[in-house]
Amino acid sequence: MRIDVVSIFPEYLAALELSLIGKARQDGVLDVRVHDLRTFTTDRHRTVDDTPYGGGAGMVMKPEPWAQALDAVLADAPSPDRPTLVVPSPAGAVFDQAMAHDMASLDHLVFACGRYEGIDERAIEWARDGFDVRPVSLGDYVLNGGEVAVLAMVEAVGRLIPGVVGNPESLVEESHSDGLLEYPVYTKPSSWRGRDVPEVLLSGNHAKIAQWRRVEQFRRTADRRPDLLADVDATALTKADLAA
Ligand code: ADE
Repeated sequence: MRIDVVSIFPEYLAALELSLIGKARQDGVLDVRVHDLRTFTTDRHRTVDDTPYGGGAGMVMKPEPWAQALDAVLADAPSPDRPTLVVPSPAGAVFDQAMAHDMASLDHLVFACGRYEGIDERAIEWARDGFDVRPVSLGDYVLNGGEVAVLAMVEAVGRLIPGVVGNPESLVEESHSDGLLEYPVYTKPSSWRGRDVPEVLLSGNHAKIAQWRRVEQFRRTADRRPDLLADVDATALTKADLAA
């Protein structure tokens, strides 16, 4: 998969050189390229922002550097297909695991990191000619720019690409993989500071362990994220789940 990120703070994206994503890049599984928006300006001060028409606080990102940067990305695209342009914004659709899976199925993702009050809307409209444009929010709160959102999205998407996570089984039983939160996990020692690991996990009875975990998933989801239960397929519930 090819990922391009355009930002005025390319150093922010250095974290994508670490851990599993960094390893996947070294292995050639992910081709991540970070571009400095300022290299696409033409004035001496490398200006990327200006005051907003209509007034108001803050600055707005100028459209032309974005058009230049995105044209350069298109010119260097790995295939003639329209890449997906993700525009992180608190005014976007909220990112979730289903969206991560959807993005993981794509060949070329481009992220446009806005700063200040956002990007001139005409640049976003213009980009629809060459890209499948998707404004995406990390959640209902405001960040200072898109970079942190991109770090989160690239990690969530990247780990779904075959070859990025060493053991693909770890993707199966994690939070949100089946619409529920993950069950609690424990490791050695079996007794620690007066707290014992639940007996059933030491039993070796795999059916009982699976049933206990499923019940814990429901318990936890009902407690922490009851909103998720509305979307869980009722036919997926076993008798044990319903009794929990
Ligand atoms: N930029 C600023 N706030 C954001 C958010 N919540 N999600 C994505 N990008 C953002």
